[in-house]
Amino acid sequence: MPGIYIHIPFCKMACHYCNFHFSTLSNYSELVGSIITEIDANQKKFKYSDVSTIYFGGGTPSIIEEDLLHKVLIKINDKFKINNNCEVTIEANPDDISFDKLERWKKIGFNRISLGVQSFNDTILKKLNRIHTSRQSHNAIKKIKKTFKNFSVDLMFGTPNSDVKSIRKDLDIIKEINPPHISIYNMTVEKRTVFYKLVKNNKMILPGDDDVLNQYDIILKKMKSMGYINYEISNFARKEYESKHNSNYWKSEKYYGYGPSAHSYDKKRRYWNIKDNKKYIENINNNLRVYEKETLTEKEIINEYILTRIRTISGINVNEINRRFKKDFLNEKEKNLIFFEKQKMITYDKSRIKLTDKGKRIADYITEKIMY
Ligand SMILES: C[S@@+](CC[C@H](N)C(=O)[O-])C[C@H]1O[C@@H](n2cnc3c(N)ncnc32)[C@H](O)[C@@H]1O
Ligand code: SF4
Repeated sequence: MPGIYIHIPFCKMACHYCNFHFSTLSNYSELVGSIITEIDANQKKFKYSDVSTIYFGGGTPSIIEEDLLHKVLIKINDKFKINNNCEVTIEANPDDISFDKLERWKKIGFNRISLGVQSFNDTILKKLNRIHTSRQSHNAIKKIKKTFKNFSVDLMFGTPNSDVKSIRKDLDIIKEINPPHISIYNMTVEKRTVFYKLVKNNKMILPGDDDVLNQYDIILKKMKSMGYINYEISNFARKEYESKHNSNYWKSEKYYGYGPSAHSYDKKRRYWNIKDNKKYIENINNNLRVYEKETLTEKEIINEYILTRIRTISGINVNEINRRFKKDFLNEKEKNLIFFEKQKMITYDKSRIKLTDKGKRIADYITEKIMY
């Protein structure tokens, strides 16, 4: 079932590692008005089918007024058929959380919060240029636990000043909090970020590759010992709390994205909206196209399938890939599959190919070797 993604492109402050699209201006109402018009105008001619997940991401959706979020949700309800058990998530930053806000989000239809904590270490948070402290994260989580059953915490590893000890501490805190879902991402150094410039000019030292892999090993081990399901390389959940939004993407389901920089996918084409907020508003006001699109080739679709599935707990379904793409996957990739199995990096039989914990450490390399 398709999912909807709404991009709210505003943040109070720029984190030094982040190259997601956002602006620090605050013309929230004008931009949200344009998102509503975009949904209404349906420029991409999507069929308004049932949806099983709605996700407000950013940027920082938690900084805009609830009545604006409500207006978008009303428009979505108006246009789409929303499944009864639809997951409705809002990404939030700890400094925005109050009981009042949480209650209002619940009232307007959100049933899941994804909280960006990144680290519980104040030195690391400062380095990342996060706006909040560890204490604010703790307070926010206490409030969320009292109001929402379903929530997620985002953490990162491989950050400046992080080491095996700081990661162990973060995970000890996670054990106490016991959130139903956690995403733990390896921090990447992205172009057009402060960290990119600092690394390029040798002004910042990041943990070495071995240290980062050791951090990941500890994450896998500790999360397993706490009973979490590692249902995708960077994602951990209690049973039945796997994110529908994430899973939809990994299952190559359709998703409809609205707002500046939002992407969409209809199983044949990929669409991406223009990033510039001002241009986005202007184009919407003048009834001009806000997106680019490309039709995916058969090779791109199969590679996307391999890339997303190999990262998940169910792995690559051999029968499905053969049937859908008219392939003989095990034969065509035999040499590399045998090699990675000998190295204990994958397990495979006639029906499934899966990464082992050892393989998850070098997932990108393995993926590259089994793609077409
Ligand atoms: C783009 S943010 C949006 C939500 C919210 N503003 C926040 O900061 O949590 C979503 C998540 O992306 C992840 N992220 C952003 N930049 C990243 C990077 N360079 N490497 C790894 N993860 C990153 C962070 O973990 C963050 O929680
Ligand atoms: S990580 Fe979140 S708060 Fe920080 S700049 Fe990116 S979107 Fe904004």
